[in-house]
Amino acid sequence: MKDNTIDLGRTDEKVVASEVSEVARLLFREFSHRINNEFASAIGVISVAARSANDEAKVALAAVQDQLQTYALVHHALRMPEHAGCVDAAAYLRQLCRAISRSRLESRGIELLLVERTFRMHSERCWRLGLIVSELITNAERHAFRNGGGMIRVELLPSLSFVECRVTDNGTGEANTYPGHGLKIVEALAKSLGGAIDQHFGPQGATAVLIFPADIDATERLG
Ligand SMILES: Nc1ncnc2c1ncn2[C@@H]1O[C@H](COP(=O)(O)OP(=O)(O)OP(=O)(O)O)[C@@H](O)[C@H]1O
Ligand SMILES: [Mg+2]
Repeated sequence: MKDNTIDLGRTDEKVVASEVSEVARLLFREFSHRINNEFASAIGVISVAARSANDEAKVALAAVQDQLQTYALVHHALRMPEHAGCVDAAAYLRQLCRAISRSRLESRGIELLLVERTFRMHSERCWRLGLIVSELITNAERHAFRNGGGMIRVELLPSLSFVECRVTDNGTGEANTYPGHGLKIVEALAKSLGGAIDQHFGPQGATAVLIFPADIDATERLG
């Protein structure tokens, strides 16, 4: 892909910090709250069951409990931010990548490498970036490595006016792929950031390049 061929459309516009309506915000909070409660409830049920279990079952239940806790952490990292304002995007992605790695990658021998440079974004736009990166990592985990391990690399390359985010893997992909829900959501999210995403799949692995305008006011105010 030639990076400069992507039409970024809204680069001359002031980036809007929050495009989510109050009702949508409330519904997201309810959804997130309910999922948290359900994770807590499932973890609690396992704890109770473990009390009367034999040693072997206790070990198995502890592993399930630990797994659920890691899923809850990923869910927490991907929740909609409570507050407007700006965040350190690199720190946010670091925390997200660590949670995803612990929850699903380490046990499969998949290494997740994050290469980043600190820059600031509006919290809600940063959340959307996190959702995109999360789906791209999930895709690599599900489709790239068959049964073996591998490497997923997430690179954040901020410049004054644009941010480039690359997610690559060293797995094997089919040249002809059919988009499911995930990639359609990723494309819509990229567009909502005022950017675009380009993906290639091949025998050497997959490459996704997302480019979107930087939150210049976030950098000036807080950077
Ligand atoms: N990293 C990757 N390596 C190889 N193939 C990939 C990779 N990412 C995506 N693909 C291919 O692109 C297809 C579409 O991905 P997409 O995320 O839209 O759907 P999905 O992952 O199959 O299902 P879901 O809707 O649950 O996300 C996949 O089915 C897969 O064939
Ligand atoms: Mg997917």
